[in-house]
Amino acid sequence: MPLTKAGREYKACCPFHTEKTASFWVSPEKQFYHCFGCGAHGTALRFLMEYDHMSFPEAVEDLAGRLGLPIPREAGNPADAQNAPLYELMGRVARFYGETLTQDARAGEYLRRRGLGGETVQRFMLGYAPDAWNAVLSRFGAHESERQRLAAAGLIIERGNGRPEGHYDRFRDRIMFPIRDSRGRVIAFGGRVIDRGEPKYLNSPETALFHKGHELYGLYESRTGGGSFKRLLVVEGYMDVVRLHQAGITYAVATLGTATTAEHLKRIFRLVREVVFAFDGDRAGRSAAWRALQHALPEAREGREIRFLFLPEGHDPDSLVGAEGREAFESRLEGALPLSEYLIRELSGQSDITHADGRARLAEAARPLVARIPPGVYRELLIGRVAEVIGLPAARLEALWQDGAAPPAAPAPVPPPRAGRSAGRGSLVRQALARLVRFPSAATAVTDGERKGLEGCTEPGADLLRALLDDLRARPLQISAQVLERWRDKPGGEHLGRLLEREAMLDDAEASAVELRAALEKLADLTREQRLSALAAQSRTGRLNDAELKEFQMLMSRKSLRGDKSGPQ
Ligand code: UTP
Ligand code: MN
Repeated sequence: MPLTKAGREYKACCPFHTEKTASFWVSPEKQFYHCFGCGAHGTALRFLMEYDHMSFPEAVEDLAGRLGLPIPREAGNPADAQNAPLYELMGRVARFYGETLTQDARAGEYLRRRGLGGETVQRFMLGYAPDAWNAVLSRFGAHESERQRLAAAGLIIERGNGRPEGHYDRFRDRIMFPIRDSRGRVIAFGGRVIDRGEPKYLNSPETALFHKGHELYGLYESRTGGGSFKRLLVVEGYMDVVRLHQAGITYAVATLGTATTAEHLKRIFRLVREVVFAFDGDRAGRSAAWRALQHALPEAREGREIRFLFLPEGHDPDSLVGAEGREAFESRLEGALPLSEYLIRELSGQSDITHADGRARLAEAARPLVARIPPGVYRELLIGRVAEVIGLPAARLEALWQDGAAPPAAPAPVPPPRAGRSAGRGSLVRQALARLVRFPSAATAVTDGERKGLEGCTEPGADLLRALLDDLRARPLQISAQVLERWRDKPGGEHLGRLLEREAMLDDAEASAVELRAALEKLADLTREQRLSALAAQSRTGRLNDAELKEFQMLMSRKSLRGDKSGPQ
């Protein structure tokens, strides 16, 4: 990208949205980019992931390659080198199937009947496995070592003992769908019978290259399809993917005859922030959707969108996009149910929420599901939504869920001390977080006492602040970009990059550390005051136990000491 120098930073027209004047900034010092127009931001790694649609390991490889740096790898995993001949073999076999397809009139006719054009066939490297027991075997398995390789790749099967020929082809008389990994290497095949037969789809077995529960069919084609690749649509079948791509929906992928796994979701969210699952409208589709929701909960968080689309009965995505075309299909996608709404709808359907009993049951059913969502804004919002449906204040519902028992007698409501704001600069938590991200080494200046003062702090974001502070004190870092990468997939990680740009900060590490510690100290004061007023309220109802009483007295004396020192107010 052409970058123009502007003071200590560089600017350019943003590559992530259309604009005429430059609002995209790159800071060499912070190792960070940020667009004031669309909010895109991140490190060099994130840039490659967003702009070139690389996965994280690919981005690391790319950057290391440019700099000539070796990549440390976990010991005992020379897998790639060892598997190189297998990848190569799979590629050759896929090309062989591709050639046979062009020579077999029946197979070609079948694909035409399914509505697939030549370009799509090429893009997906579709092929045809001849109707013979040894087409692949005789062509690629002349020597014993080659036969071993074919067997290891799952392309041939060993006969029972006693037969003269040792092996036969796994795929015979089938339309072949090569499954490619993120780099485009063929790692497995799915083969469909032409017209009728059992099983309808035959898949490669698990091999050194292929782990079914991890792979998504069409992911490589989606990333390289030239579309904007901002979201992924997860469907069930090979044919669905191919047909959707042909219709211009080039972000469709399929799980390979398995349910959506947690591993799938992790992969998806490494690449995009938005996913839509499409399911048949029938009962099997609904139960598959509910299972997908359960796997999706641990991955749900702010900044991500997870939605569910239910297709009209009797349709799969293949037939639907064929019947109504891309625009109508995409407008269905726009209307897909957000995870939160799907969850509420499903649970409301199970209990009669016009009665207190039903609402209580709904709350109980929601509880373990909500517990699977990592703490953060998204979870709070969902709790709020459940609370709304059952007609309780959110804080009360959360308290009930946490106690798991009847609530204690409600203390007299006392307004809490004003939240920790100092004029116009964002909350104290936010200030502290922003300074930590900007100058992570400031964490090492924080004392144990200052850290302890944060215990019990309930300000929004306090969890993240404690976690980040502990992390940076235990494993210090030097620059912002390192913090962002380490926190990329952790709860709250998404916020850190935004703080870095939005908060006005001194550009001086030492002054920033002083500000950080000042913010921590104010937070500690605030936390003590809040605790004190809570205990005071409780004491009015005469419910303080010995420990609480002691704490109350300690806090009171501390307060008056401080009051003496700072004089009358
Ligand atoms: P479907 O039976 O819905 O097939 O299986 P489909 O994708 O719509 O295919 P067409 O339209 O009949 O050609 C959905 C997916 O389940 C897996 C495959 O991945 C398939 O794409 N499957 C299905 C198998 O692995 N084996 C089977 O025998 C059937
Ligand atoms: Mn189908």
